[in-house]
Amino acid sequence: MWGDMRGLAILLIIASFVGISAKELEQGQQTERIAGSAGDVLEDDPVGRLKVYVYELPSKYNKKILQKDSRCLTHMFAAEIFMHRFLLSSPVRTLNPDEADWFYTPVYATCELTPNGLPLPFKSPRMMRSAIQLISSNWPYWNRTEGADHFFVVPHDFGACFHYQEEKAIQRGILPLLKRATLVQTFGQRNHVCLKEGSITIPPYAPPQKMQAHLIPPDTPRSIFVYFRGLFYDVGNDPEGGYYARGARASVWENFKNNPLFDISTDHPTTYYEDMQRAVFCLCPLGWAPWSPRLVEGVIFGCIPVIIADDIVLPFADAIPWEEIGVFVAEKDVFKLDTILTSISPEVILRKQRLLANPSMKQAMLFPQPAQPGDAFHQILNGLARKLPHDESIYLKPDEKILNWTAGPASDRKPW
Ligand SMILES: *[C@@H]1O[C@H](CO)[C@@H](O)[C@H](O)[C@H]1NC(C)=O
Ligand SMILES: *[C@@H]1O[C@H](CO)[C@@H](O)[C@H](O)[C@H]1NC(C)=O
Repeated sequence: MWGDMRGLAILLIIASFVGISAKELEQGQQTERIAGSAGDVLEDDPVGRLKVYVYELPSKYNKKILQKDSRCLTHMFAAEIFMHRFLLSSPVRTLNPDEADWFYTPVYATCELTPNGLPLPFKSPRMMRSAIQLISSNWPYWNRTEGADHFFVVPHDFGACFHYQEEKAIQRGILPLLKRATLVQTFGQRNHVCLKEGSITIPPYAPPQKMQAHLIPPDTPRSIFVYFRGLFYDVGNDPEGGYYARGARASVWENFKNNPLFDISTDHPTTYYEDMQRAVFCLCPLGWAPWSPRLVEGVIFGCIPVIIADDIVLPFADAIPWEEIGVFVAEKDVFKLDTILTSISPEVILRKQRLLANPSMKQAMLFPQPAQPGDAFHQILNGLARKLPHDESIYLKPDEKILNWTAGPASDRKPW
């Protein structure tokens, strides 16, 4: 009873702030699709538009690593494993490499975890290098293009830079042997050394069944105005402050911890997923990397993502109209987040909610088991298909070499 009254009270505060009626707020479950490219591209069927050859590697590059730690199946980097499984049984797979458009090397580079479950990317460069050595000596296809018709799934914080701290990742740069390959990665930021032209940015993995299990009736009123759960400071790794999230999360806390419109805390409640379905706006600030699973959760739960990460490149940005479904707030403007959000008109909020309710938007964010049309696997294939046909210039002349096998830190060249 008390809970209901509190919910109603907050709803009315919100309503008075944004000039929206409770009835309108409740109608957020109607759906809308964007005419033209966005909606249509999401529903493309990649089957018949490309053929992928999956290299068969010794299991020490993939399955054995997973056997040692099954937590890699549920963490936010799990896309590398599910993409491998998906391709093995996908109709786009070809067993004849001579007819392949794309070559895929199944290496699980984010599956080495600390006891706390955090991925350690330190061996990933050696592992990648070893796998490339192997495919380039056993098959003729790598040498033909030095990887320009190969793709790799590298979902780590800073993709193929293989470090979780940005300054170290920048120092390392993209692994030299991957310079010509197409990288499928979660990391995306404009003008950043860890995102190269032509990479495909994907959503982080968020467990589809678990999210499904927490769905509440879609007509539940959204009585929370702004919702966020997560760290504001990372005292362990950033004792001075200001480096973690470039200060943006600290600013959210310092400015809005006592604001009744902001339901923000470090506590991760068991009702986290339900709460997102009761919220109008869900904050998606950068952490160490610009992206987080909140982007996916926001779309799935119809909570408008408020993206605070300057220059972020969002998943499948060529197919998903992020500008229309989300709200973008510059890191320097975090202190006025309350004014920015309360001045968005009810019509705009309702439109964003209707777009978020579009099933094809949600489907594109997920890696379901088994795969379904329009899901993230299919969006990755669509992205690869849109890059075809390959430009003739990717094929090297006999004995032509472009990649430098001895570039990069000496420690990366130790045997794996
Ligand atoms: C590819 O090139 C490397 C280095 O030049 C060479 O050692 C290797 O044997 C070549 N692979 C094939 C299949 O010819
Ligand atoms: C390859 O990289 C190493 C280390 O950076 C450098 O010393 C060498 O000159 C490079 N080789 C070529 C052919 O560019």
